Amino acid sequence: MISELIRKTFNASKITELTLPDEQFQIENALKQFSDEAKIQCILTTGGTGFAPRDVTPEATRNVITKECPQLAHMMLLEGLKKTPFAALSRAVCGVRNSTLIVNFPGSKKAVVECFDAIKDLIPHAVELICDEKTKSEKKHEEIKAGKMENQACDEDQSEVIEKDPV
Ligand code: MTE
Repeated sequence: MISELIRKTFNASKITELTLPDEQFQIENALKQFSDEAKIQCILTTGGTGFAPRDVTPEATRNVITKECPQLAHMMLLEGLKKTPFAALSRAVCGVRNSTLIVNFPGSKKAVVECFDAIKDLIPHAVELICDEKTKSEKKHEEIKAGKMENQACDEDQSEVIEKDPV
């Protein structure tokens, strides 16, 4: 279901999906493998961000990222709170591992749609910056300064999805 959103929004994306159990070690290994070996630009995880004992995706993510990007999680929270106070029950972590952006989403279909909507316009530019794609980044900065905030698909975007509980 998140692949569907990615496909529609970033129509040239190559997308791979993987479903994992709520096992921190397995999640960490998958995140490392997709970023270090497969050189995936963006990994979106769904589920496992709540308060239950089995919810360990944020811990797995925090253990593998090299930079934390809390503002992306804040953006999802701000937008989520406009829809439901339960948005505060997600402990989603966002960060960068070397050249890969990693974003945690909550697991319900509704939450995935809302969180994806909250940050989808930011993902291509974030990926450009992470990959140090100067020409694209400079162009985007000009657009932002000019007050344009178009939804720009990124042709080179390779998004990887780790779904813990397929929605
Ligand atoms: N965020 C948004 N935008 N919309 C939602 O409906 N559901 C919340 C929260 N975040 C929700 C949301 C609920 S009910 C829970 S329990 C937490 O995400 C954690 O979900 P997870 O354990 O499936 O990751």
